[in-house]
Amino acid sequence: MQTYIEENRDRFLSELLDLLRIPSVSADSKFKGDMLKAAEFVRESIEKAGADKAEIYETAGHPVVCGEKIIDPALPTVLIYGHYDVQPADPYELWNSPPFEPVIKNERIYARGACDDKGQFYMHIKALETMLATDTLTCNVKVMIEGEEEIGSSNLGTFVREHRDMLKCDTILISDTSIIANDVPSIETGLRGLTYVEVEVVGANRDLHSGVYGGGVANPINVLCEMIASLKDENGHITIPGFYDKVEALSAEERDALNAAPFDLDEYKRDLDIDDIRGEEGYTTIERTSVRPTLDVNGIWGGYTGEGAKTVLPSKANAKISMRLVPHQTDDEILELFTKHFESIAPGSVRVKVTPHHGGLPYVTPTDSIEYKAAELAMEESFGKKPIPTRGGGSIPIVALFEQELGCKSILMGFGLDIDALHSPNESYGLFNYYKGIETIPLFFKHYAELKR
Ligand code: BES
Ligand code: MN
Ligand code: MN
Repeated sequence: MQTYIEENRDRFLSELLDLLRIPSVSADSKFKGDMLKAAEFVRESIEKAGADKAEIYETAGHPVVCGEKIIDPALPTVLIYGHYDVQPADPYELWNSPPFEPVIKNERIYARGACDDKGQFYMHIKALETMLATDTLTCNVKVMIEGEEEIGSSNLGTFVREHRDMLKCDTILISDTSIIANDVPSIETGLRGLTYVEVEVVGANRDLHSGVYGGGVANPINVLCEMIASLKDENGHITIPGFYDKVEALSAEERDALNAAPFDLDEYKRDLDIDDIRGEEGYTTIERTSVRPTLDVNGIWGGYTGEGAKTVLPSKANAKISMRLVPHQTDDEILELFTKHFESIAPGSVRVKVTPHHGGLPYVTPTDSIEYKAAELAMEESFGKKPIPTRGGGSIPIVALFEQELGCKSILMGFGLDIDALHSPNESYGLFNYYKGIETIPLFFKHYAELKR
């Protein structure tokens, strides 16, 4: 198996680079044609890996690609999930090389989607190819690669519900998360949920001269800023009534275990070029970014932002706000609490509107399951070190739905690093990580089949 990977090393990379050249940005309709191109690329790659079946399925949004290789119905079945869509590459001017013209520099692949998630799901297709070519596959494999993860997977729930039989499996394996470091392997045992909203604050019925009207009427931008600022108190606690009601308090042991993971605050600050950190009082950075909920403005606009100065009181102001959720908060409930609160704090001098975007439920997986053990053994074998369980701060909306619809837990065996700059300019993925993934995935199948026996 290792020999096969070695012999095909260059081709495994050049194929990924071809996939990275397709600008499959799900959020922007300008790339609709490229989404179809990427779906077809993925379909073909599953077929070429040796699957019995590889098909594109239309949805109300971007298509889903599914394939399978059933070697023996008596064997356990593993469903591989990933996403071929990527985040927009903006701002383009901050990229050192064009986002859809991948380059290799310092042993890293630079391109939008290099890590999230093209580089990571493509490892599974190459691992499948390797196992089939060397006759070492020990489980049945199903593959589902979707095109709407970065926009909330809103059509995927319906798809899974409508194809429950086709997707039936014993466990789900996903590489779309990170490890602590290349010499500190880890497995994420949780994901945060998400409520994402857009808010609008409207004042007068038109933009006004800021001298003639300034001081006399509400400025929607000022009001929006005051409202946003009031959403957290001086301790960084979110002030929305009821927001923390369902939040699970961790035991001292659980907190200790979380904080036992290697973390160097100075290095963290140096990497981000910040003099100090900031967050909820009473919690460590690891806790703040994994088991505590958050509220953040992701974008804010209004008024004049062009060159020079324009004296104007804008008629409206907008912001996009995300809230990361933890067990047992639900996106619907938090949306309702946020909306009610935001409307209630608006002064009478403005009107506000809250528009929901996507959401998703938080997720946790136990570490005493057969599938977790299999991932642990696989990583221990390939990294030479037992992986540490961590709780992830990101979200993958379909994972909680998989549990509801397929009755299966997902294993988040990702290979990314924090320095990969996901969603940022100059996203990258280490060659070490790409090949380590291709090497580790077959070991998961090996151990999983053995443990299931
Ligand atoms: N792969 C990420 C999520 C992730 C990244 C989890 C790193 C753990 C570590 C995924 O593609 C992502 O970005 N998800 C979005 C979800 C949203 C658009 C619904 C997120 O977390 O913002
Ligand atoms: Mn991803
Ligand atoms: Mn992402």
